[in-house]
Amino acid sequence: MATLEDLKEKVRSLRTEFQQALAQAQDLGLLEQIRVRFTGRKSELTQLLRSLKDLPPESRREAGELLNTLKEEFLSALQQKRQELEAKAVQRLDLTLPARPLTWGTLHLLTLTLKEILEIFAGMGFTIEEGPNIEWDHYNFEALNIPKYHPARETQSTFFITDEMLLRTHTSPVQVRVMERKSPPLRFVAPGRVFRVDPFDASHAPAFFQMEGLYVDRHVTFAELKGTLEAFLRQFFGEETKVRFVPSHFPFTEPSAEVLILWRGAQGREQWLEVLGCGMVHPNVFRAVGYDPQEWKGFAFGFGIERLAMVKYGVPDIRWFTENDLRFLKGARR
Ligand code: DAH
Repeated sequence: MATLEDLKEKVRSLRTEFQQALAQAQDLGLLEQIRVRFTGRKSELTQLLRSLKDLPPESRREAGELLNTLKEEFLSALQQKRQELEAKAVQRLDLTLPARPLTWGTLHLLTLTLKEILEIFAGMGFTIEEGPNIEWDHYNFEALNIPKYHPARETQSTFFITDEMLLRTHTSPVQVRVMERKSPPLRFVAPGRVFRVDPFDASHAPAFFQMEGLYVDRHVTFAELKGTLEAFLRQFFGEETKVRFVPSHFPFTEPSAEVLILWRGAQGREQWLEVLGCGMVHPNVFRAVGYDPQEWKGFAFGFGIERLAMVKYGVPDIRWFTENDLRFLKGARR
């Protein structure tokens, strides 16, 4: 170090530098960096203090005072800034705020409905089977007595993957798959996704859930079909529910019926609503799986799971099931 004048100049520039740096310090980490840089062991200030002894004796006292004042200035400014930053951090973490309420998850309304339905059928001795979402034309149509030219294919416009492979349009192919694999008697339900080329509106969806049911034994009658489905519908919709069977047509059953329930909707008006398709298994379906239609009889039924949930729980729009609106999801809590 040369002269006292040089030192004064140095002190001025260090002070300016320090003040600028301090003004930038937004958190305690940065403040610590500034403390180390300006007052630490390797700081310029510390170097200068060490080299005081090299000054001519007559300048030493004044130079020493100058540097020590600067150091005290730095330390007290750092101290003050630290207190400011700590106060701010405490403000941000307001411990007096009430805790966030605990929120509980819930099963989806469709899952709850499915469980409810499966429990009812389990109570009547039905087991559960499943089939693939991607299906052969053979299982979806052909073996169910719906040949290539049949108009029933038109009503189930389909997502084809190849000429022979498609996204299944109903759960009925599971009937065929299970009968092929197992010998009678059989009693099962088969829930699962189905797909149709439908517009996505309040009552249609390109993908939805169905449940199929099949009961095969030596002496199955239409009376048992009626009894079973009435028992199911009364357990699901309530013991007082009125049930009506109306003649209908499905290629894989003969005779066939649609099942209606008398239901009081949201507006309080009673109405007959179609909720199920069913019938006695067509002999051609038994033939397709190698069962002798003289020896075996059976009934089958199928319904949409969203549809049943919409009726029972008053859901006005099928799209609500997939929109994941929390107001809908939370409404399912039970
Ligand atoms: N597969 C029919 C559909 O998707 C529903 C159905 C009707 C299934 C009658 C059946 C039945 O097993 O017997 O519309």
